[in-house]
Formats: sequence, C-alpha cells, structure tokens
Amino acid sequence: MDKNEQFEALGGRKILEVVAKEFYDRLYEHPWLSKFFEEIPQERIEKQQVDFMQAALGGPNVYCGSLPIPAHQHIYIDEEMFDLRQVILIEALKKCGSSTELIDKWLKIDSSFKSRIVKSSIAECEKRFFTDNILAFPNPKDQRKAA
Ligand code: HEM
Repeated sequence: MDKNEQFEALGGRKILEVVAKEFYDRLYEHPWLSKFFEEIPQERIEKQQVDFMQAALGGPNVYCGSLPIPAHQHIYIDEEMFDLRQVILIEALKKCGSSTELIDKWLKIDSSFKSRIVKSSIAECEKRFFTDNILAFPNPKDQRKAA
C-alpha cells in the first residue's frame, strides 16, 4: 500500500472531518479552552486542522497555514492546558469510532509538538505581527480557588 492508500485505510479525509467537528465542538464549549478561540470561526480552524492532519498522516498535502510552532507563538499554553486538550482530543477520536491505529498515529503527531508549543511562562510568548494579541487566560478553576 502506498502512503495515500494507507491514509484512505485509516478513514481518509471523511474521518478527519468528523473528528475535527467533534473535537472543536467540545473545545468551543469548554469553560477554559474556548477562550482561546473567541476570535476564530470554528469552520476555519476545523478546516485547517483537517488539512494539516491529512498531510501529516500521508494524504494529499493541501495545507496552507502556518506550521504549529509559529502558529502558537502568541499563545500561552502551559502543560496542564496541553494535556487537557489531548484528553478532549482522545474523547473525540473515540466518540467518532476511530481505529486504534488512527488514534495512535494522530496522538503521536500531536504529541511531537508538545515540547515546542508548551511555554513555561507568558514571557516566552511572541506576537506574530505588530497588531497581534498575546493570548493568555488562567484556568477558571484556579481563579475560583484564589477568590
Ligand atoms: C492547548 C494546546 C493548543 C491550543 C490552546 C491551540 C490553539 C490554537 C488557536 C487559538 C489557533 C488559531 C490561531 C490563529 O489563526 O490566530 C490554532 C491554530 C492551529 N493549531 Fe492549535 N492549539 C493547541 C495545540 C495544537 C497542537 C498540539 C497542534 C498540532 C497538530 C495544533 C495545530 C494547529 C494548526 C494546524 C492550526 C492552524 C494554523 C493556521 O491556520 O495557520 N494546535 N491553535
């Protein structure tokens, strides 16, 4: 099987679209993670994620966004947030009936960016362009504890 046949055997673009919809439905409803997506139309990020994963999983490369490291340089992502996002991703993958092979491959790709996306302080964030905003939101759970 060539690379594209392997991608099709995993479920092809269709399964990526179903998982991305389920995943971002959950992120856009989440009390903490939703804050990072307030300015981003859900359909746009879903399409970017599907295009990106399609190329990363060996399917046709039609992705034309930034690579994950520059795409997140303005976002204060700590380890707790990264791990929480991954728990939600696993739930979405399972809910959509993904094969174990797809889950393993998707998580391997996702995790490979962890050390370069996670920051140890807000000072590590950098604007992507002059008028960009640094995105940093504390976990609402910690704010309740502090109050
Ligand atoms: C907690 C972790 C993460 C958060 C909060 C997060 C949040 C975001 C946000 C807000 C954007 C939109 C940026 C913009 O267009 O202004 C974005 C884009 C994107 N993210 Fe993440 N992300 C996280 C982790 C990841 C990981 C691990 C990957 C690896 C596959 C990833 C892949 C992407 C891609 C491909 C884009 C599209 C970039 C573009 O359109 O140029 N994200 N993310």
